[in-house]
Amino acid sequence: MIKIIENPEIPCFSELQNVGESIEIKRSSLGFIDVDTSVNTKEITEYISQIHESFDTMVVLWIGGSALGTRAIFEALKWKHHNEKLWVKKLYILDSIETDSISDLLEALDLKSTIFCVISKSGSTIETQSQYVFFRKKIQEITGEWKKHFCFVVWEKFSHKDTLQKDFKVFELAENIWGRFSVFTPVGLLPLAFAWIRIDAILQGISEIKDSCLNANTSENIALKLAFLQQYFYEKEWKNICVLFPYSTRLGQVGEWYKQLMAESIWKDGIWITPCSAIGVTDQHSQLQLYQDGPQDKLFITLEVVNSNTELFIDARETLSFDRLMKIEKFWTESSLRNEWIPLVSLSMEKLDEKNIAQLLYIFEFQIAYLGELFFIDAFNQPGVEKSKIITKQKLKEDFPDVDMSREAFSL
Ligand code: PA5
Repeated sequence: MIKIIENPEIPCFSELQNVGESIEIKRSSLGFIDVDTSVNTKEITEYISQIHESFDTMVVLWIGGSALGTRAIFEALKWKHHNEKLWVKKLYILDSIETDSISDLLEALDLKSTIFCVISKSGSTIETQSQYVFFRKKIQEITGEWKKHFCFVVWEKFSHKDTLQKDFKVFELAENIWGRFSVFTPVGLLPLAFAWIRIDAILQGISEIKDSCLNANTSENIALKLAFLQQYFYEKEWKNICVLFPYSTRLGQVGEWYKQLMAESIWKDGIWITPCSAIGVTDQHSQLQLYQDGPQDKLFITLEVVNSNTELFIDARETLSFDRLMKIEKFWTESSLRNEWIPLVSLSMEKLDEKNIAQLLYIFEFQIAYLGELFFIDAFNQPGVEKSKIITKQKLKEDFPDVDMSREAFSL
């Protein structure tokens, strides 16, 4: 369960009751809300059991929203060293076209036992297409049965879906779910299930809090409260930077995902809220100097995991655990920020498991959707991002007329 810790020093906390009644979420156009009932986990788990027989490793080829959410959940639940362990199903997330990253990954892979999951809503994103064309060539070099090594997740309206389906397993992403809101669809659930993460528990976690995320009463709805706080501090006190500050290294990638979610959704039509992220305790020895003594232009959202899965004591008499030390450091850091009248909202998560991590990300998705409504902007488009995609494609066509980077490249 995710909780918000009431902070009496924030004056608007008490003013927020029921203000949500004025907000109307257009549910039918926001597919992310109903993923708990619309996503077919049976189809995913059946496919995963089938491919587990032949493949030890999955590499996900993609970029953007779809990649960041999966990495956030994967690292929170399995941590960085998962792929180094024996007897695990390995999951690699490639959201880069950097030569050194790709050749480094190639060295780690046994291509014969590797399946590639290609994810692109539009099917025309150059980074994902080029990754696919490259790894297809690599697999074709070792086997004539190369098609078995690929599966796809594309938009249900993708123009070449039917052609693709003739040769490959294709999962669909609903029309009304955008990349950065897609982690709870096959986009995220398929790779996570490959690494033995319990995707039913993920959707169960969402089901349990869906009603509260739709509740117009702010005292029942953390997402709505976060959105109002954000708007309040931006408009009334010009806090135009939002720092997500989890006291958990394993939640570090949630910060990366959140930055994209907010930046791509909210930075339009003159709304200037810049998302930042920090990690406790690491950034107490780094960014904290700026936060404590720098410009007073920030709202902080801290996050704590209440119970660790194990307890490790530092001293021989077992009086002080790492957990306790972390909580003490968090408490005093928060206190010193509050002493400077820096606004800070604390969230807590019961423990790190499928349900809780899903609830956290789902709450943030709602927060951003509400924020879009509060600022009268469309939180679901990304004109700036699309502009750069178009320019890149145009330039490529001019400079490399013989390289097929069209949508058809996906269905060769
Ligand atoms: O969140 C978004 O919508 C973007 O970050 C996209 O995920 C990203 O641009 C990739 O697009 P596509 O899924 O069409 O390949």
